[in-house]
Amino acid sequence: MTPSHPPHPSHLELGVCDYPEHVPQDRWQTYAEAQKALGLRFVRIAEFAWSRMEPRPGEYDWAWLDEATRTYAAAGLEVVLCTPTAAPPAWLIERHPEILPVGRDGRVKTFGSRRHYDPSSPVFREHSRRITRAMAERYGQHPAVVGWQTDNEFGWGDTAQSYSPAALSAFRRWLEARYGTTQALNEAWGNVFWSMEYGTWDQIPLPNGAVAEVNPSHALDFLRFSSDQIATFQEEQVAILRECSPGRFVTHNYMGFFGGFDHYRVSECLDFASWDSYPTGTLEAVREWKLADPRLALDFARTGHPDVTGFNHDLYRGMVGRSVGGGQCSVEKDRTHSPLTTDHSPGFWVMEQQCGQVNWAPSNPLPARGAVELWTAQAWAHGADVVSYFRWRAATMAQEVLHSGLLRHGGRPDRGYEEVAALDTARFPNGEVPARVALLHDYESLWVYNMQPHAEGMNYWAQTFAYYRVLRSVGLDVDILHPDRDLGGYAVIVAPALTLMTPERARHLEAAARHSHLIFGPRTAFRTGSGRTPEEGQFGELSGLVGASLLRYDSLCAGMGQEVVAGGVSHLARHWAESYEPDGAHTLSRYRGGPLDGESAVIRHGNVTVIGAHSETLIAEVLEEVLSGAGVQPTRLPEGVRLSRRGEVTLLQNWNSHAVTWQGQELGPVSAHPLRRSEVPA
Ligand code: GAL
Repeated sequence: MTPSHPPHPSHLELGVCDYPEHVPQDRWQTYAEAQKALGLRFVRIAEFAWSRMEPRPGEYDWAWLDEATRTYAAAGLEVVLCTPTAAPPAWLIERHPEILPVGRDGRVKTFGSRRHYDPSSPVFREHSRRITRAMAERYGQHPAVVGWQTDNEFGWGDTAQSYSPAALSAFRRWLEARYGTTQALNEAWGNVFWSMEYGTWDQIPLPNGAVAEVNPSHALDFLRFSSDQIATFQEEQVAILRECSPGRFVTHNYMGFFGGFDHYRVSECLDFASWDSYPTGTLEAVREWKLADPRLALDFARTGHPDVTGFNHDLYRGMVGRSVGGGQCSVEKDRTHSPLTTDHSPGFWVMEQQCGQVNWAPSNPLPARGAVELWTAQAWAHGADVVSYFRWRAATMAQEVLHSGLLRHGGRPDRGYEEVAALDTARFPNGEVPARVALLHDYESLWVYNMQPHAEGMNYWAQTFAYYRVLRSVGLDVDILHPDRDLGGYAVIVAPALTLMTPERARHLEAAARHSHLIFGPRTAFRTGSGRTPEEGQFGELSGLVGASLLRYDSLCAGMGQEVVAGGVSHLARHWAESYEPDGAHTLSRYRGGPLDGESAVIRHGNVTVIGAHSETLIAEVLEEVLSGAGVQPTRLPEGVRLSRRGEVTLLQNWNSHAVTWQGQELGPVSAHPLRRSEVPA
């Protein structure tokens, strides 16, 4: 059967996450028709429905899913089906308790919520392939099924790593394939330190349970291994979906600010990435990062902060793409896949969009009026093709009864529903996000940075976010990219925390510096690919490009500060200050007072600037100066006011709960204004 794909959409499309298995069948038709009437096009289903698909071992019950799919199709909706592996049924655990994941504390995580599986378990992999094939054979060519989501939120519930016997033996095989000999591994990890040298593969433990901190190189390889386990687990599903469901897209729904695995690696076999956007809950991240301004968490408690959400949109928009070294995924992509592949391919989806209160943050304030509309518009402006709300109706059972949906528990519309009903999606046409600035981000740098932060409050995300926030606060669109991607076409490339440096990456950045201005933050190139520091010290392979080497670093206790003077203006560094010994570079600003007095804090070498101190005002000043010099005109915006461009439209947003006047334009509280170029205030 040939899939009957609709034409490419010309504007934002909407969807919803629905759970027909949670409500009596006599409501399905009414709900499906109401979803269609609300203007929704897609419905995502079945990610936790394994116990209904296969109630007993090998006994499938498709009748309900056949009927649900038929009902959605009859109402004119298109279906995104999920593989149900995030919730293995009780009978499977009873038969094979060895598939349960093991936590860092060595305890087995038991049945009773979700994600209770270990991707290294060969037994679970077999069942994952079996249920995926059974589903794909039944629905893969169903005309209403337009795409697939694999599993659900890899890593949720601290499951990105498992410390099980299956993981241990797979980790040893993985290390053997990577290093060939234990001597090579000992050298790469520096195991002569504390007599950690291994003579056989069987001597190597998992990096949990040791008396104190394990070797960071050991921990780094375990994180790489664990990412590969998730990637290959998913690839097994994707291979089956490609075979049985041609012409359909395959995606996965990631989480915001989640660093538990290498999302670039895991995304290699996908058509595009999706993520689950919960702006008020995700704002909690800011509170956790002591580096970020704590007032943000309160001032934006009812909307989330635009840059916290925007960062993740930009991250996932750039998630799928070819890296310079090529990927490791063995599954061929189906180029005919998506009804939604547009010119700006591959795009991204917000698979779960908050549309009311969440239930999982420490406190869960009611979103402001207008927040759902604002979130939807912002997602579109940052490149989302589809925004799909979580969930249709608030659950009346189990863990998530305190979570909202578009409908209230009693089935009547909640405020989010009204806002979706009022949306005019024709005002959000598709197009490119015209970013002239790239921000580099990678999970390996994140891991090695956060393993040894060295100063209370230092955190990879917080440092990266501080730079992103400056870029957004001066009205710029930003592409977030892996450092090994094609970096052509950008005026300015910002790498806030590129801690891990390899020779290939250094050459790649040297090439990029021929056409773009590069800005590096503290701790750049502090580590090699195996997690050691370079023999010549920071900046190792990047020394020639930077024209300097590290002199000293200072880790500041909470409440301490280090003054930095730039062009007569004084800034205060907190948490971290590192100084440099120029060798070709010139000094733009110096430390004043304290043990770094008179030493270089910001240096420049040709097209390359390095900022060694963590100070938001210093970062803003240096970035604005570089941006202006590179012809990217920064426009300072008030806090909470943001500009995002897509195609011919500029979305002017006010995330504040009060009205703001900007450039003579009155912006109501919590509001989004799609403007044509000519309407944007100068
Ligand atoms: C996500 C998840 C959903 C639901 C939601 C609640 O993590 O994918 O199934 O639990 O959070 O906000």
